[in-house]
Amino acid sequence: MKTLNIGDLKARIPIIQGGMGVGISLSGLASAVANEGGIGVISAAGLGLLYKKLCPDNYTKAGNLGLKEEIRKAREKAKGIIGVNVMVALSDFAELVKTSIAEKVDVIFSGAGLPLDLPSFLKKDSVTKLVPIVSSARAVRIICEKWKSHYDYLPDAVVLEGPKAGGHLGYKENQLTDEHYALEELLPQVVQEVSRFEEMYGKKIPVIAAGGIYTGEDIKRVMDLGASGVQLGTRFVTTNECDASEAFKETYIQAKEQDIEIIKSPVGMPGRAIHCSFLEKVKAGLKQPKVCPFNCIKTCDISRSPYCIVTALYNAFKGNFENGYAFAGSNAWRATRIMSVHETITELLEGWKRASAPAVAPV
Ligand SMILES: Cc1cc2nc3c(=O)[nH]c(=O)nc-3n(C[C@H](O)[C@H](O)[C@H](O)COP(=O)(O)O)c2cc1C
Repeated sequence: MKTLNIGDLKARIPIIQGGMGVGISLSGLASAVANEGGIGVISAAGLGLLYKKLCPDNYTKAGNLGLKEEIRKAREKAKGIIGVNVMVALSDFAELVKTSIAEKVDVIFSGAGLPLDLPSFLKKDSVTKLVPIVSSARAVRIICEKWKSHYDYLPDAVVLEGPKAGGHLGYKENQLTDEHYALEELLPQVVQEVSRFEEMYGKKIPVIAAGGIYTGEDIKRVMDLGASGVQLGTRFVTTNECDASEAFKETYIQAKEQDIEIIKSPVGMPGRAIHCSFLEKVKAGLKQPKVCPFNCIKTCDISRSPYCIVTALYNAFKGNFENGYAFAGSNAWRATRIMSVHETITELLEGWKRASAPAVAPV
């Protein structure tokens, strides 16, 4: 596989581990992927809850202290490239971005909304690369035009996340099964849109494909369509190094294909998750938040939300599925055992090699 170059950063293998909140990708998983030559990503979502003890009365402050701690731990454990995922929808987006830049993380990945003001946080001496996560060529155009005209900056790379991904999805529910929105349809459109800006301004902007990529063969398929790299989430959940509880990983191992479902998230976007008793109670209308403890998401309408999403995802991270649920990509049911990140990446590379080998004609 070719090196993935994001500006002056060179990932020996073009595999990014997608940021996964709440608590699913922290320094443990991110450093393991970085040490294999890929890009490891810490999720900034919900750190205010995970690190509550650092500042019990202030969710934002606790989250930022927690993020610093996770970046420091990842740097201690890894020699490679470390990123942070900060969703635009988070109320403390600006603070988390500022912390990531001040801590000199290599890359910020940002989606769940258009990160239109992301470059405004860079300082003259900042080293952090900025990578938006998008769902369409139109979103790429809007971001590139806005960043160029307001900040004289273009994305250092772009992640296109297709409708098979886990977590929140940047599509309407009816688009999720519409073939016009398949990753393989959207990828050439995004590559073409990006190449217009590359040509106009002479900057390389690699396109990274995400959503439903599970094997080396999948990687080969999207690279052939113009991707310079891939971002995988689900595949890395069932690893020893993944930061979630064993019970969280076990829900992936036990899941059948029909257990993967689309939910309506209080954030206002559809999401993909594994069916569990909590989601059944939500459907039956039994869950009601009494208070909004953290005001953590800009678009969450507490008066209409059936539950507090950050608390539900935090409960799932700890393995409590009576009061939470696991986000998961459409391939989550395919995992049969927990393995190391090293073994996972070796399998991916072998699959890619098999798919890339020239076909031998029968004698
Ligand atoms: C458990 C879980 C949590 C996720 N959390 C986030 C998140 O906090 N922010 C984000 O931008 N994407 C999130 N994602 C999306 C992943 O970063 C990744 O892009 C996506 O899952 C890729 O699709 P795949 O899971 O099929 O490989 C999450 C995905 C999963 C499975």
